[in-house]
Amino acid sequence: MNSQTLSSFFILLAIRFLILVQVLPSGSSNPEEFYQTCGNKFSCGTITNIGYPFRGIDDPLYCGYPGLVLHCQQNDVTTIDIVNATYHVLGINESTQTMRIVREDVMMGTCPLDMVNTTLDYSLFDYSATNTNFTFLYGCPTLNIPGLSLVCSSGYNSVYVLPGTQGPGKCNTSVVVPVLVSTGDGHGAGGSVNSTTLDQVLQKGFEIRWKMDDKDCNDCIESKGRCGFNFATNQTSCFCPDQPYISATCSRTNGDRSSSGAHFFLF
Ligand SMILES: *[C@@H]1O[C@H](CO)[C@@H](O)[C@H](O)[C@H]1NC(C)=O
Ligand SMILES: *[C@@H]1O[C@H](CO)[C@@H](O)[C@H](O)[C@H]1NC(C)=O
Ligand SMILES: *[C@@H]1O[C@H](CO)[C@@H](O)[C@H](O)[C@H]1NC(C)=O
Ligand SMILES: *[C@@H]1O[C@H](CO)[C@@H](O)[C@H](O)[C@H]1NC(C)=O
Ligand SMILES: *[C@@H]1O[C@H](CO)[C@@H](O)[C@H](O)[C@H]1NC(C)=O
Ligand SMILES: *[C@@H]1O[C@H](CO)[C@@H](O)[C@H](O)[C@H]1NC(C)=O
Ligand SMILES: *[C@@H]1O[C@H](CO)[C@@H](O)[C@H](O)[C@H]1NC(C)=O
Repeated sequence: MNSQTLSSFFILLAIRFLILVQVLPSGSSNPEEFYQTCGNKFSCGTITNIGYPFRGIDDPLYCGYPGLVLHCQQNDVTTIDIVNATYHVLGINESTQTMRIVREDVMMGTCPLDMVNTTLDYSLFDYSATNTNFTFLYGCPTLNIPGLSLVCSSGYNSVYVLPGTQGPGKCNTSVVVPVLVSTGDGHGAGGSVNSTTLDQVLQKGFEIRWKMDDKDCNDCIESKGRCGFNFATNQTSCFCPDQPYISATCSRTNGDRSSSGAHFFLF
């Protein structure tokens, strides 16, 4: 080996090392550090101080429930990925466990650009009762569709929008998009929208509810712990500053061990 190949070998080694360091999920696998490393709340634009079951993309995996990962774009727009689609997060209400989201492709240009129905991961989410659906029909053979006709940059000449959940019928594709039922301002979903009001209705998004029970987490926080996810048991757990580092709840004070009863060791 001459010195040139030797030095390029070391450069390659250094690059590999850097890549490894980047790719490894941040955070430790040492339970002692779980409490310390899960102290972040997620804030981005108008979405602030969101804690478990959500985590920010930069936080360790164990700080959030799997699948509830929030991204922050340009320090302003919060997004979440659900079943292959990206949604902008318009609001999160932790006390009702609901969030308002809108498809990113709808946000960009009214007509869905991705020819997929809006699909939730039903193990994580439910629709809340305040939504209704619109169906976009692409590639229809006739012009006798009773819905609102739009011109979209989707490759199809015209796109029709109908209230409700509809199959494609004679058209090539139908894409279902939920919207929030209006709360009295007249821009009703469920009926008459025109090309001006459709944008507004769509961009208000729709509401979903996350299903995880927050009781365990509330008990944990009350005991001065931080909630996280225990991949060994697939359950929400409580991370504590002192031993036991992973528990159902933390002991209330350090000197109070005897009266706080049994600890539940999960590891
Ligand atoms: C999500 O994407 C994967 C890979 O592209 C695909 O196999 C799967 O069918 C998609 N799921 C849905 C619900 O569209
Ligand atoms: C969450 O919803 C409840 C009940 O509708 C409401 O009282 C509360 O103000 C909402 N919180 C936020 C942050 O919007
Ligand atoms: C909207 O469509 C989805 C399926 O695409 C369905 O699960 C949901 O119940 C529909 N919502 C309403 C209010 O019809
Ligand atoms: C519908 O799809 C078929 C087959 O993919 C295609 O030949 C046809 O041109 C499409 N119709 C429209 C109106 O785009
Ligand atoms: C969307 O859902 C409707 C009704 O459930 C279905 O008929 C249609 O084929 C779906 N569209 C796509 C792109 O999967
Ligand atoms: C659309 O509907 C709104 C409210 O229903 C109405 O005020 C407006 O004039 C309509 N615009 C068009 C272009 O029809
Ligand atoms: C946790 O869930 C994952 C995916 O659902 C599964 O592959 C794994 O075996 C589960 N682990 C335990 C300990 O239940």
